Amino acid sequence: MAQSKVVTVTVEDRIAWVNFARSDKRNAMNPELNRQMMATLDELEFRDDVGVLVLGGEGTAWSAGMDLKEYFRETEARGLRGVRESQRESYGWFRRLRWFQKPTIAMVNGWCFGGGFGPLFACDLAICADEAKFGLSEINWGILPGGGVTKVVVDLLSMRDAMWLTLTGDLIDGRQASAMRLVNESVPLDQLKARTTEVARTLLMKNPVALKYAKDAVRRVGTMTYDEAEDYLVRMQEAANFHDRSDGRKEGIRQFIDEKSYKPGLGPYDLAKAAARSSA
Ligand code: COA
Repeated sequence: MAQSKVVTVTVEDRIAWVNFARSDKRNAMNPELNRQMMATLDELEFRDDVGVLVLGGEGTAWSAGMDLKEYFRETEARGLRGVRESQRESYGWFRRLRWFQKPTIAMVNGWCFGGGFGPLFACDLAICADEAKFGLSEINWGILPGGGVTKVVVDLLSMRDAMWLTLTGDLIDGRQASAMRLVNESVPLDQLKARTTEVARTLLMKNPVALKYAKDAVRRVGTMTYDEAEDYLVRMQEAANFHDRSDGRKEGIRQFIDEKSYKPGLGPYDLAKAAARSSA
């Protein structure tokens, strides 16, 4: 039987707008959605016409978390094999998104519960609507926030805020989420897409190889000692130099020092000029 589309994608001006699209179920993540998300990430990751991925939600929700019926009850009924299979599928695409080749932005329009914190954290940046509502509802239906969620809140929030959300299941709105640093910014819902587009365009102007190595570095160094991080960053810059066919760093220096056409302190070098030179 053909499965309905529960993930939608539109690529426009190098931004891939990927949406949770099960609005009748508040975009709860069932196994089918998890599989479609993985396939979508596979399809988009190395496309030349995609420079940034935005993850949004259709309808009133971003995502109401894991699907209680199809992800929990029905897979549990299939025994350990079913449970592990569905965990692999969901954790799999969250992990894939955390290390995605292009920068990613969570655009949180509405409800974001429990398991939804997985993809929220997986996105590099997060912008939400003031009207969005976030909550760790797990405690309300009798489990702990699993699937990495407890780790997400401990990494992103203060211990007191993490503990409060975990134990009370209280909702916070977009402004509170921004004040807690669960997201970067909160804006009124009617400005959410415009603001997200603006941030995405800022990223599109940067060297894409540098973006990938820089975002991975931010996630990696947190668990390293200073010396390990120093070494990792040296090696990663050398790897980036190898992968950056445009020799971006040299071009960036050239446009500043020789051409005096921009100032790195105030904005990025001109990628188009670099591309034209490397293809000449
Ligand atoms: N799992 C399974 N189904 C879900 C779901 C979830 N996480 N969240 C919503 N749904 C379903 C509802 O069962 C309902 O289905 P139905 O139309 O077949 O009855 C449909 O989506 C609409 O939900 P409803 O509760 O009527 O919408 P609402 O706008 O009044 O409330 C929420 C939205 C998100 C507050 C509410 O649906 C809710 O509390 N969902 C559960 C959140 C949660 O605990 N998630 C798990 C985290 S791990």
